[in-house]
Amino acid sequence: MKSIRLSFLLFFLFLGNIQAQVLTSPGQTLQMKFALTEAGEPLYLVNLNNQPVVLPSKLGFDLKNDDIDLLDGFQITKTENSTFDETWTPVWGEESQIRNHYNELMVELTQTKTGRKMVIRFRAFDEGLGFRYEFPLQEDMGYFVVKEEKTQFAMTGDHVAFWIPGDYDTQEYDFTESKLSEIRGLMKTAITPNASQTPFSDTGVQTSLIMKSADGLYINLHEAALIDYPAMHLELDDEQMIFTSHLTPDAIGDKGYLYTPAQTPWRTIIAGKKAGNILASRITYNLNEPSKIEDPSWIKPMKYVGVWWEMITGKSSWSYTNDYKAIKLGETDYSKASPNGTHGATTENVKKYIDFAAKHGFDGVLVEGWNVGWEDWFGNSKDYVFDFLTPYPDFDLKGISAYAKEKGVQMIMHHETSSSVRNYERHMDEAYQLMKDYGYPAVKSGYVGDMLPRGEYHYSQWLVNHYQYAIEKAAEYQIMVNAHEAVRPTGVGRTWPNLIANESARGTEYQAFGGSKANHVTILPFTRQIGGPMDYTPGVFEMDVFNGSHVNSTLANQLALYVTMYSPLQMAADFPENYDRFPDAFQFIKDVALDWEKSLYLEAEPGYFLTIARKAKGTGEWFVGNVNGMDRRTGEVKFDFLESGKTYIAEIYGDKTDAHFKTNPQAYEIRKVAVDSNSVLKQFSAPGGGYAIRIRAAGKEELKGLKKLK
Ligand code: NOJ
Ligand code: CA
Repeated sequence: MKSIRLSFLLFFLFLGNIQAQVLTSPGQTLQMKFALTEAGEPLYLVNLNNQPVVLPSKLGFDLKNDDIDLLDGFQITKTENSTFDETWTPVWGEESQIRNHYNELMVELTQTKTGRKMVIRFRAFDEGLGFRYEFPLQEDMGYFVVKEEKTQFAMTGDHVAFWIPGDYDTQEYDFTESKLSEIRGLMKTAITPNASQTPFSDTGVQTSLIMKSADGLYINLHEAALIDYPAMHLELDDEQMIFTSHLTPDAIGDKGYLYTPAQTPWRTIIAGKKAGNILASRITYNLNEPSKIEDPSWIKPMKYVGVWWEMITGKSSWSYTNDYKAIKLGETDYSKASPNGTHGATTENVKKYIDFAAKHGFDGVLVEGWNVGWEDWFGNSKDYVFDFLTPYPDFDLKGISAYAKEKGVQMIMHHETSSSVRNYERHMDEAYQLMKDYGYPAVKSGYVGDMLPRGEYHYSQWLVNHYQYAIEKAAEYQIMVNAHEAVRPTGVGRTWPNLIANESARGTEYQAFGGSKANHVTILPFTRQIGGPMDYTPGVFEMDVFNGSHVNSTLANQLALYVTMYSPLQMAADFPENYDRFPDAFQFIKDVALDWEKSLYLEAEPGYFLTIARKAKGTGEWFVGNVNGMDRRTGEVKFDFLESGKTYIAEIYGDKTDAHFKTNPQAYEIRKVAVDSNSVLKQFSAPGGGYAIRIRAAGKEELKGLKKLK
């Protein structure tokens, strides 16, 4: 390690001596330097407040079928500096106004031998850097195939990282906390089973990656605006501590097909002295294009329940019958089949959920297993697996839709594609039209299992294009999309705000598949959620579920997730009867807002604890959520974000002191106190626990007799 750091130091000094282009962020906090080595290799480095974040790192591409790569032999033929400052209004989000303020440096490089031009565009924000490659329209480079992108991120040391295995097909892994140098040794244990998975190396990890340096700097690496390009992973050289981009290949091993003019997604580096700085950054959205949906009035946040947890926990089934081992859509006669007695999506059961939603003020009801084909949906590499149109005999599509409408509840459609992507595209127009006909404003789509076309991976360019096609096609029909198992988001929700959520990480379902680490939810906001909202599906009150699995979380922690796991789409996942057992706690799920004017990151340490306060749009109410790691902890909330001179009621839903995610998850207590902007709360969180607070303005009458928090 020592000799390596020394070589970097020399490199660094050398960079100071050669002619470097320097780009500084508007507030002068972030600095990027760009230069060419003697061999004409592009290099960049990043400093935050004079502290190195990324040491000199190379940029470029290996091309396929080409003797000459885009790695060296460059000259700088043009540079342009500019600055940009706008404030835009997202359709939904963690805040109602977002400032997009950066200084930009455009460097045009020309490769001497070939005359090829490659532009690198850098944007320096106060808390991070975004850069991308652009290939202008040019004679000698019309169409080319990327063998590998060679973007380096040279780290300053052996940072602690919260990582999941690099994989072309899934992100549904628990995080491992380790030093970078320990990744290789831990990789095998980190790779847990999944319906489709293709890990690619002993030191490959996924973005968004969060790290912490020995001197307390938090660093996040990810990408923004992943459009028409494969998803990027990071391959670590664990001697040099250098990450190099590793793109997801297609079925024949190629990585990206580009036609000039073309551009890559933005590569992002967000850094901060506080972990909360990473969460407050809007770089990922800012590097995406403004909304392409002119009138987004049909895009509305939704709180929903669903016929879902029953299937996930094994209590009921997606399938209708056990009579057939194989289904041929259009030929199999379901009217002759005997019902298996466990089918979840029956008209009667769905009506029960609609009634529950109506009674408790939920916007929507999701129903899975409503359409024919679930008997052999999985693991069969079956092309024509679903038509997304034909309901099972016991699901009255028309009647249910009318019933929901009458009750003021909206239905959420489910399209499990089984990763038969061509089949989904084949039916997409008709399927979306059916949704319009029956008044379904949103669809949850899914991509379980290995891809069809066979050999393709979930995160290749072709698939990235498919997910995008589905989003844009849905927008034509004014349909909101919540895609599971699709590529992880990269801020595309700014451009296409009908992409209201993704899964693309290990969601609550894994709590029913053997459990997730109890601190999982303290890491997701720093990783998966950097790119956009997650349909995490919280709200489980009964932790010992039907199939014997245990949900590693306390009930109070489940409540906090509605605040800490930002999403305009939030599920209350548990069964109605479990909510009926705990009506006082359920009240928080009913009250909590979905869309925010402001968000404050009060206490944050990935893997250990996270406390967020958010002000609801429109109502003036505040909500605070705390999720805790494995150790007991007492945290602090200063209410100085409240309007001074006003007294509010804080309704606190917290763990009892003997609560524990494993042994005593339902030990919660609810109390009400009066607070003002001078109040400070000390609040206990159990292992795997947390707390949730609703803060609302209160009249004198209500405040009478309430203890005032000092
Ligand atoms: C995986 C999804 O994450 C889950 O929510 C869904 O129920 C199943 N696929 C079936 O589509
Ligand atoms: Ca999933």
